[in-house]
Amino acid sequence: MLDRFSRDIHYLRVSVTDRCNLRCVYCMPEDGISLLGHDDIMTFEEMEKMIKVAASLGIRRVRITGGEPLVRKNLTSFVAALKAIPGIEDVALTTNGILLPQYAQDLREAGLDRVNISLDTMRSDRFRDITRNGTIEDVWSGIEAALNANFHPVKVNVVVMGSINDDEIADFASLTKRWPVHVRFIELMPIGEGEQSFRGHFVSIEEMISKINQSGQKLYKHDGIKGSGPATYYTLEKAQGTVGFISAISKHFCNSCNRLRLTAEGQLRPCLHGAKEIDLKTPLRLGATEKKLQLLFMQAISSKPDQHFLSDQGWGGQARMMSQIGG
Ligand code: GTP
Ligand code: 5AD
Ligand code: SF4
Repeated sequence: MLDRFSRDIHYLRVSVTDRCNLRCVYCMPEDGISLLGHDDIMTFEEMEKMIKVAASLGIRRVRITGGEPLVRKNLTSFVAALKAIPGIEDVALTTNGILLPQYAQDLREAGLDRVNISLDTMRSDRFRDITRNGTIEDVWSGIEAALNANFHPVKVNVVVMGSINDDEIADFASLTKRWPVHVRFIELMPIGEGEQSFRGHFVSIEEMISKINQSGQKLYKHDGIKGSGPATYYTLEKAQGTVGFISAISKHFCNSCNRLRLTAEGQLRPCLHGAKEIDLKTPLRLGATEKKLQLLFMQAISSKPDQHFLSDQGWGGQARMMSQIGG
């Protein structure tokens, strides 16, 4: 379905939980957040109903996010249910990878198409600091499990933060020579806890590229790999994977935005950065007809703003943490 700015909205990011088994500094406060109660979270059956309605309006791709989606029980059956919805062509997952050794094979068999794994450092002490006590070996095993389960592509998301992990940019780029993974560098966004770290630690894509150039590695433009997101891709010589950049702040990609978000509590979120949410859960629980739910989706699509107004000077003032939106 086209929005007011003629963008084709066909990608739905669905957050299935606000819980997480890590506490990344830019995402969650140290003590965590007050979590949604059992009745506030949508059941998988409710989500499936909503996604069927979305598919009837042209949503073709679904990305499952969190918190950490794999901490929710029975995610594998949910994936299988989504794959069975007529019109849904691609189901992907964004995860911190910790639980992938346990679930990768089953998820693949359930029909999951792709996984994006977050990993901001390759050093175990730093990983412990950034995630507040995570074990990096779990993520490496998770990446391996994803590759062994034959997910194509496997992407690694690196949120770059000045004086925290920006000295690892060139090493992360080289990872694509050793492993068939697609490393994407992401500009830190001032959302939730990101808002506090933002001013001191923001690094632009331009600076990231120059660090790779300075390391003597040459980036060649690449047409892009499977995905519907905002990254632009390059490749290094003799690499197995690609290097991507997500310039959420310095050069926003709002004019090609193709997505809506659904939060774990059943709110449709027209834009990552604010815009009024639309409650789908209450009408669904009150027995709204499919037509009524379609109208709510249409309302969310038509209220998508043309762009966000964050900059490397500006602040988000977001009410939600990133873990409550799903990135
Ligand atoms: P594919 O391209 O389909 O693989 O997915 P993706 O890159 O959109 O998804 P992923 O969950 O891996 O997100 C990567 C980064 O992009 C995260 O930091 C997200 O917050 C950011 N991102 C995703 N969608 C948007 C968006 O609509 N706007 C902005 N500003 N950032 C986004
Ligand atoms: N800025 C940029 N990316 C973020 N993510 C979480 N918080 C932020 C932020 N403030 C990333 C995660 C994950 C993806 C869903 O969003 O690292 O890779
Ligand atoms: Fe958890 Fe992801 Fe937030 Fe880290 S970024 S705390 S892994 S939800």
